[in-house]
Parts: sequence; C-alpha cells; structure tokens
Amino acid sequence: MLTKEYITELKNKGNGDLGYLVNGLKDNPSILYVLENMGYLPKNFDSSFLFPLLTHEYHKIRLAAAKNIAKINKVENLESLYQIFENEKDTSVRREIVSAIGRLRKKENKPYLFKILKDNDPKIVCQAIRGLLVFENDEDVKQNLEPLVNHQNEMVRTVIYKQYFADEANKDKPKSSLSHTETHSFLENVVVNGDVLDVLKYVPTESVHLTFTSPPYYNARDYSIYPSYKAYLEFLAEVFKETHRITKEGRFLIVNTSPIIIPRVSRSHSSKRYPIPFDLHPYLVDNGWEFIDDIIWQKPDYSVKNRIGGFMQHKKPLMYKPNAVTEYLMVYRKETTKLIDWNIRSYDKETTKQSIVPDGYETTNVWKIDPKFDKIHSAVFPVELCKRVIQYYSFKNDLVFDPFAGSGTVGKTAKLLGRKFFLTEKEPTYFDYMKSQAKPNILGEFETQFFWTMEEFVNHVLP
Ligand SMILES: C[S@@+](CC[C@H](N)C(=O)[O-])C[C@H]1O[C@@H](n2cnc3c(N)ncnc32)[C@H](O)[C@@H]1O
Repeated sequence: MLTKEYITELKNKGNGDLGYLVNGLKDNPSILYVLENMGYLPKNFDSSFLFPLLTHEYHKIRLAAAKNIAKINKVENLESLYQIFENEKDTSVRREIVSAIGRLRKKENKPYLFKILKDNDPKIVCQAIRGLLVFENDEDVKQNLEPLVNHQNEMVRTVIYKQYFADEANKDKPKSSLSHTETHSFLENVVVNGDVLDVLKYVPTESVHLTFTSPPYYNARDYSIYPSYKAYLEFLAEVFKETHRITKEGRFLIVNTSPIIIPRVSRSHSSKRYPIPFDLHPYLVDNGWEFIDDIIWQKPDYSVKNRIGGFMQHKKPLMYKPNAVTEYLMVYRKETTKLIDWNIRSYDKETTKQSIVPDGYETTNVWKIDPKFDKIHSAVFPVELCKRVIQYYSFKNDLVFDPFAGSGTVGKTAKLLGRKFFLTEKEPTYFDYMKSQAKPNILGEFETQFFWTMEEFVNHVLP
C-alpha cells in the first residue's frame, strides 16, 4: 500500500526508485498521491521523471509535477520549464511554472521572467513580478518593471506603484502633526450643529480613526430634500471626499444605506426605486476609498413595510415585490500602500490588549439585529449595530466620526466603548435632542462639548 512513509523511503534511497514508481503509475490515480507527498527535495534530486508529467493530460498531475520541480533549484531546468509554460493552457499550472522559475533567484532566470511580464493573464504577470522583486536594487529589473505602472491591470499597477513610486509621491502629501493613534483634543467628544460640509472645512487632515454613518435617505424624509438624485449623490460624494481627507491613513469608513422607494406620482405612474448603495459606490472608489466588505443588516419581517401583500392575493408573475428586510453596511478603507498590520502596530501593547474584540463576535456578513424605534428621530441606529462596527473597526481612545449624527447613537456607543467621538448634525431639533440626552449622562455631559453655531465651533478650533 502507498503511504507517505514509503514515498519518503524511496525518495531518500536516491537510486531512482521513486521515478520508477511514478513512471509505473502514469495512468493510475495514485500518481497524484505520490506527487503530492514527495515533501522536501534536495538540490541533487534526479527530477528527470517529473518533466514528462508536465504534458500529462490531467491538469492536476501537471500542477503537482510543476510544484515538485519548483522545489528543486536548478538553472538547467529553466529552458524546459519555459517551453512548457508557453504551451500550457491551465492558469494554475502556468502560475506554478512561473513560481518555479522565480524561486531560482538566479540572474539566469531574469530574461525568462521579463518575457513572462508580457503575458496577458495578470495573475501570471504578478507572479513574474514577484520573482523579479527578489533582485533588490537591480537596474535591469527596475527598467523592466517601472513601465508597468501604466499596465492595464489594476493589481499590476498597484504593486509597481508601491514598489517604485509610493515613497516619492507620499513625500509631498500634507502630513498630520500627530502620530497615527493620536487626535486633536479640540475634536474629542464634540457635537456641532451645522452642515457637515461647512464644519469639515475646519477639521485638519488625518484626524479621525473611523467613520460610521447613515446618510440622509434621498428625499425620503423631511430632513433630506435634494433637487435631483444626481445632486444627492454628488452631495454625499463631497461629504465622503472630505471624510477621506480627515481620515487617518488606512482607516475605515462604514456607510449604512439601502435602496429606497419614492412613491408614484399617480395611479398611472410607477413608484421608483433608487439603488443608493450601488450608485454611491463608484463615487467613493473614485475618491480614494478602497472597497473592503459588504455587510448585510437583516431586520425581522414584522419590522418592515409589507410589500408582498399585493402579490400574495393573485400570485401573478412580474408582480413579485419581496419585503425588504436588509440594509447594507458598505465597508471601505482609505487607500494606502501600507498593510493593516501597519495600522495595528501603531498602537501600544496595552491599548491593543484593551481593544481585543470580546467573544461572541459575528462571524458572517449577515448581522441579524432588531431596528430601533425612537419617538423623536425616525431613523436611529440600534446600539448593537454601532457596538459591532466600533469594536471591529477601531481601537480604544480612537476618534469616531459621524457626519450625519441624528440622535447621536454613534457618539453614545463610542463613549460606552472607551472611544472618543466627533459628530455633526444639521437639524437643530436633533442637535437639541442629543444635548437633552446628555443630561442624564448618556453622552456624559461634562465631557461632551456642544456647539450651537459654526462660529462657536470655529472659535473653539482656531487658536
Ligand atoms: C439617517 S439620519 C442618521 C441617524 C443616526 N444614525 C442615529 O442613530 O440617530 C441622517 C441625519 O443626517 C442629518 N443631515 C442631513 N443632511 C445633513 C448635513 N448636510 N449636515 C449634517 N447633518 C445632516 C439629518 O438631519 C439626519 O438627522
């Protein structure tokens, strides 16, 4: 019986027995088991029996053979590997062959990798780039790679940009005077009654760690009247462009929206549904927000408007209108060449320890949470929703921003979780509501500063 131990034993004998076994199994499914369990292969391993397998009719066998050849660092293998690469159709086998060439880390492989850079599969090009980037400070490599910053594929462009251009470009960017974890004390636990776009003019670049918000719905409620859908989207785009400016490098924006319905004008017209999350998305990406995740907030059936009633009566096709029990939480990150690890490492050990997400966290992107009804504000966040977002996307003491604060749920929850908050709200009624709630220590009045007018806020910010 074939076992790993037996394969290892044959391999260690080094007298060709393993090759003999593989040749004998050419059309037997067990060949795959042997190829996948060959383990470490020394440089002097006789790999000649593996090369014919690179043209085997079954792609998994070709892939396994390529993986084993990749383990043996032999310059002599280069030309035959490249020839097989040229004729191979399966993308994973092709990648494995490029990886095998790249792993050689010898100057002889450079001309092959340069040729592979012209491949029309971006994954293959990235694999070749990876193989070339091991040659540090190599002029030849640099000359071949730099032009790929204009490559048609975005992944390729990003890798090259990060490698050769990012440092230079970042040198000229306005820098905050603060470290990544700090913020300005004049923004901490502040609520401003004003139009967010006016307020943000006075907020310095790279001040906030997280933004979580639910924008006004397009013409669905009194506080949100816009001349057109385009004007509405452009207004939100402007807010999130400014939010991008004030966000710290590599930090998150979470936008809660859902498609909305505008009722029909008369019986001879239809109502119109606006897919806000999908229409807003391109504006966000154009303004430097990188899409990370879509989280679905699912509400119970009983809590939403009944749309299915009409269909249930006659069950006629085309009349189907499901009850909309979901909203989106679209998660974005401020574009950066730095990894999330860099953000995490900016915090000291104690803060990181205190910010560890407690057990019981949500493991899927469907969050079942009951909506909250409020007698003053018609669209408030449930605290549980804010809790999750703040815990999963910020550290203790971070500054959490909500440009459309409403009743201030983001602020209250941020405080509850040991974060600071900065809120803007245009409607005096809701601003007043937040202030009134602060009395019984919900926002913690003595710590929270409420600014009734822009003038008051500007005086507070400007020295
Ligand atoms: C959907 S509600 C947010 C509710 C909030 N998440 C809560 O938990 O109470 C949107 C809020 O944005 C406010 N708003 C609309 N346009 C604004 C603007 N230009 N500047 C600041 N606030 C604005 C509205 O008055 C409304 O209270």
